[in-house]
Amino acid sequence: MSSSFCLTPQTYHVLTDGVRRDPEEFWLKEGHRRLVWSREPTRAMDQEKGWFADGTLNASANCLDRHLPEHGEKTAIIWQGEEADHVIRLTYRELHARVCAFANVLRDCGVKRGDRVAIHLPCVIEGIIAMQACARIGAMHVVLFGGFSAEAIADRVADSGAVVVVTANVGRRGAKRIPYKTTMDAALRLLGDKSTVRHVLVVGVTEDEVPLEAGRDALLEPLLRAASMDCAPEAMNATDPLFLLYTSGSTGKPKGIVHGTGGYLTWASFTHQLVFDHQPSDIFWCTADIGWITGHSYVAYGPLANGATILLFEGMPSHPTPGRWWEVIAKHGVTTFYTSPTAIRALMSEGDEIPGRYDLSSLRVLGSVGEPINHEAWTWFHEVIGGGRCPVVDTWWQTETGGAMISLVPGAVEARPASATLPLPGVNPVLLDEKGQPLEGAAEGILCIDGSWPGCALTIWNDDALFQTTYFKPYPGHYFTGDGARRDEDGYFWITGRVDDVINVSGHRIGSAEIEDAISEIHDISESAAVGIPHDLKGQGLIVYIVPHEGLDKAVTAGLKDQVVRIIGTKVGRYAVPEKVFVVPDLPKTRSGKNVRRLMRKIACGETEGFGDLSTLANPAIVPELIRIVGEG
Ligand code: WTA
Repeated sequence: MSSSFCLTPQTYHVLTDGVRRDPEEFWLKEGHRRLVWSREPTRAMDQEKGWFADGTLNASANCLDRHLPEHGEKTAIIWQGEEADHVIRLTYRELHARVCAFANVLRDCGVKRGDRVAIHLPCVIEGIIAMQACARIGAMHVVLFGGFSAEAIADRVADSGAVVVVTANVGRRGAKRIPYKTTMDAALRLLGDKSTVRHVLVVGVTEDEVPLEAGRDALLEPLLRAASMDCAPEAMNATDPLFLLYTSGSTGKPKGIVHGTGGYLTWASFTHQLVFDHQPSDIFWCTADIGWITGHSYVAYGPLANGATILLFEGMPSHPTPGRWWEVIAKHGVTTFYTSPTAIRALMSEGDEIPGRYDLSSLRVLGSVGEPINHEAWTWFHEVIGGGRCPVVDTWWQTETGGAMISLVPGAVEARPASATLPLPGVNPVLLDEKGQPLEGAAEGILCIDGSWPGCALTIWNDDALFQTTYFKPYPGHYFTGDGARRDEDGYFWITGRVDDVINVSGHRIGSAEIEDAISEIHDISESAAVGIPHDLKGQGLIVYIVPHEGLDKAVTAGLKDQVVRIIGTKVGRYAVPEKVFVVPDLPKTRSGKNVRRLMRKIACGETEGFGDLSTLANPAIVPELIRIVGEG
């Protein structure tokens, strides 16, 4: 193994051993060492009160102010637009000034400690600035994925009770304009009088003009220019929420996952350092949208807390030329590149000669996240992009875990293609059988985590009971991840995918209930079921079965598929539109009336036999019927 990495197997062993022997001492030391506190915590974990509970700190001061004395002139952000010469660089000092100004604008809008601020932006620097500005004044940000529909935005804004919204006039995609402000207007119209939003701040990404509602909407730029660049950070309790972020689960309603301040930031910093072997000269590029947790922990918080230089890229992987991403890596000397298996597979399909045209020798570490990576994609990433010399860190984690949990650690852990390898220090994964019994040694089962770790979410916004039932009730005494995994005789993990009703399309979590709830709005449909099936590029593809009401006329039935696609687009977003919709007379059910998704999944995959004992079904005759309909396409 190369000795150019910070850790060696020996030094890593000291770490893992230290945390095993005395987690309290280990994490207290990490917390002190990694972060600056306005009041140092005296304890790491308190079962009742949470992580670093008696400490106070500010996340933005940790990401910005602390770097100013020695590294104020270091580049914090390199932003690359779609056009080659459209580049913005901000030093830590400049970023700090902009964040302070933004924080003052938020204060002028009446935003107080504990308030929520929704952020719906394309990949512009203001996204990070807005997040940091919220953190600075102790407001929680609620970043909304760019691909959400107006209804999806409205649901989340309403649930969070956001008082201010930050959006853009438009987003850019080539010559196309994405109507951010118009979508936000539509979302707020849907909320009507019930809206808690008092102000809408609009980032002028382009010169395009958009209507502004007097008294509510304002262009951000003039406000920033007028704002003071002094803004003292609020001292927050370590267990105060830093942000909430919506994610999909088995229940229909998206859940607002709440992360705390001290524990989350310690975890983001610790994992960013270990997993990516962070070194001061690195140029770190994580391609995730800030609307997802990966964009929070490995764009906005982890790297900045560690004083890294991050790259943000507004464009697409293969536009205007295939190989655009590789061109960006070569141009900016990116050392660390973190992306998704879906992106890797798409780029791989363009052929090896495309990356071969670019000098990728700056790369040191490659990372993958969001879905299981297949052997072929892992190997291609390693060989063709990493030239066989860069470790590929396959990082398994979730919105709820705050940061990476199972991952290769460069220099310290031996890789195995397509394996997330070993748990990080302080993470105790267990595999359980269906009955919740722990499995020992080499085994395949349900992945749970024992004990706590600093990055663990605090709760679900407005619904702590749901937090407890979702994560701690299925297998009492363990945190239930919703994933299945295999462990080999050396303790290496291979994640096999979700075991609950969450479908992972291109790394985006989609709850089957979310899709079914949207479809339930169509009066002519009595029932539906959404399932995920393997998809070569996207990892999983979404398949929907719908059962029309009896006696509908043919023309109406024929129009149902289009209606389904439309309603999912409006209620959830275009990213959740299914691959295929099958119109069927009934769904396979147990005698107690539960849909048998396992069967629907198999049939959607084109399987025609090997379904096991069907006699427990209430309606076994539907099975050949479904096989026929799916077979006809
Ligand atoms: C899946 C993204 C296999 C998994 C950070 C998890 C993965 C869900 C991996 C969380 C990986 C994430 N290998 N599967 N390396 N990383 N997943 O909340 O099913 O958007 O439960 O967090 O993505 O998705 P989320």
